[in-house]
Amino acid sequence: MKITSAEFVKSSTSVKDCPEQVFPEYAFLGRSNVGKSSLINMLIARKNLAKTSGTPGKTRLLNHFLVNDTWYLCDLPGYGFAKISKSIREKWEQTIKNYLHHRENLLCAFVLIDIRHEALKNDLEFLSWMGMKGLPFAIVFTKADKLSRAKVQLQLAKYEKKLALQWEPLPPIYVSSSATGEGRDDILNLISDCNSNFNI
Ligand code: GTP
Ligand code: MG
Repeated sequence: MKITSAEFVKSSTSVKDCPEQVFPEYAFLGRSNVGKSSLINMLIARKNLAKTSGTPGKTRLLNHFLVNDTWYLCDLPGYGFAKISKSIREKWEQTIKNYLHHRENLLCAFVLIDIRHEALKNDLEFLSWMGMKGLPFAIVFTKADKLSRAKVQLQLAKYEKKLALQWEPLPPIYVSSSATGEGRDDILNLISDCNSNFNI
């Protein structure tokens, strides 16, 4: 899919404030600093339309972007961010879950996981929650440029083994790098396929 336009629409504090559900939508979620905003910029080929930062906790609202005038991307705050108070962390997590639960035009939530990390409890719990709610999702491993090819394959195999304990078949899985553009075509192809089924 060719990206011809991408614009920031609005930031919302809750699902109630989000833009009207007139277009198909894709959300990016995962732990703070995993690379959600960077992946969005990579997909839409814009340098810093979604704000990124080396410090976790940069994205604090539900940020909508309209792409090609026909579909939305939503950049979400991270979950499991240790350096904020428990009450704020719980509020963010509730905001994310409410959004996922009530956003009917959401066709796929991309759950991002840093390829360098071992399977983490709160990622696995989040995936279970998505499954329980019957929400469509795909897993995107991020920061593949930080490991050798062999190590990427090793990490992937380890993670898939863990996921297989819970999922049969496995959800769609992508390997990405916002630094090299790896994974871009495959993720855009999935979005394009979902877009063509919207409203059918
Ligand atoms: P929060 O909004 O704080 O939850 O973080 P986020 O998940 O949106 O992460 P963000 O995109 O802001 O990226 C966090 C840091 O990781 C930044 O310093 C990015 O430059 C870096 N980063 C993100 N993706 C990649 C990647 O694919 N490769 C490399 N090398 N660095 C990346
Ligand atoms: Mg962010």
